[in-house]
Amino acid sequence: MFLKRLNEAAETARRCLSDALPADGPLAEPMRYAVRGGKGLRGFLVLEGARIHGIDDAAACHAAAAVEAIHAYSLVHDDLPAMDDDDLRRGQPTVHRKWDEATAILVGDGLQSLAFELLAHPALGSAGVRLALVESLAQAAGARGMVLGQALDIAAETAPEPLTLDEIIALQAGKTGALIRWSAMAGALMAGADPAPLARYGEALGLAFQIADDVLDVEGDAETVGKAVGKDAEAGKATFVSLLGLEAAKIRARELVDEACAALSVYGGRAETLREAARFVIARKT
Ligand code: IPE
Ligand code: IPE
Ligand code: MG
Ligand code: MG
Ligand code: MG
Repeated sequence: MFLKRLNEAAETARRCLSDALPADGPLAEPMRYAVRGGKGLRGFLVLEGARIHGIDDAAACHAAAAVEAIHAYSLVHDDLPAMDDDDLRRGQPTVHRKWDEATAILVGDGLQSLAFELLAHPALGSAGVRLALVESLAQAAGARGMVLGQALDIAAETAPEPLTLDEIIALQAGKTGALIRWSAMAGALMAGADPAPLARYGEALGLAFQIADDVLDVEGDAETVGKAVGKDAEAGKATFVSLLGLEAAKIRARELVDEACAALSVYGGRAETLREAARFVIARKT
C-alpha cells in the first residue's frame, strides 16, 4: 500500500523532471540516465507534504522534481573517483563509468541549475512562495547543508581521531538530512503554513534514513541495494554504525522514527502516509 503511493509519487516527480530536461545536445542522454531509477523518496515527501496542505500534484510536482534533480546531482558527484569512487548506482554503471568524468561533473552542474529553474515555475504559487522555496533549497543543498555534509564526510576519512556522536550527527544532518528536511517542509512553505512540525519530522527522518543507508552498507547485498556495499568501513567513513555498532545504530534509528511520527501530531490522521514513510525508511532493503 505505502509502496504503491511511493512509486506513484516517484513517477509523478520523474515525469515532471523528465519534461524539464534538455531534449538534445551532449548532456540530454546522460542527464536522463542520471535521474532514472531510485526510490523517489524526496519527491514523494514533497508531494505528500503538499497534499496534507491541500496542494495538488500538478503544482507540487515542480518542487518534487527540483529536489530529485538536486539529489541525482549529489549522487553523480558522490560517485566520482575524487569522492567515493563508485562504479554502480541504482543497479547501473555510474555516469562517469558509462561516459567520463567531465560528463559526470557537467551532468551534476546541469541538474543543480535545473532544480532552481523548476522552483521558479508559476504553478508553485506567488513570487514570494517561489522565493522562499528557492532560498530554502539553496541553503539545504549548499555549503551549510548537503555540500557541507559531503565535505565533512570526506574529511572524516583521514581524521586522526574517530568522530564523536555529535560530529557524526552534524555530518549526516548535512549530507542526507538537509534535503530530506527540505522535502518534508516544502508543502508547508507552498501553503504559507508553519513549516516547523514538518521540519522536525524531516530532521528525524533524515537521520534515520542515513542510519539505514549505513546499515545496508554492512548488511545489504549489492544486487538488491543497487550500489556497492562494504565501502564505508573500507574507506574509513564516520557513521553511526562505525561508532555505535550495528545493534545500537538500529535502536537509534527506531527511536528517530518514533520522534518523526510524534512531530506529526498536529496533522492527525492526514499524516498517516508520512508516518508509514518513516517506518518504511528503516525497513527498506534498497
Ligand atoms: C542514497 O539516497 C544516498 C544517500 C543520501 C544515503 P537514496 O537511497 O534515496 O537513493 P535513491 O534515490 O533511492 O537511489
Ligand atoms: C551520499 O552519502 C550523500 C549524498 C550524495 C549527498 P553516501 O556516500 O553514503 O551515499 P551512497 O551510499 O553512496 O548512496
Ligand atoms: Mg559519500
Ligand atoms: Mg557514496
Ligand atoms: Mg552510503
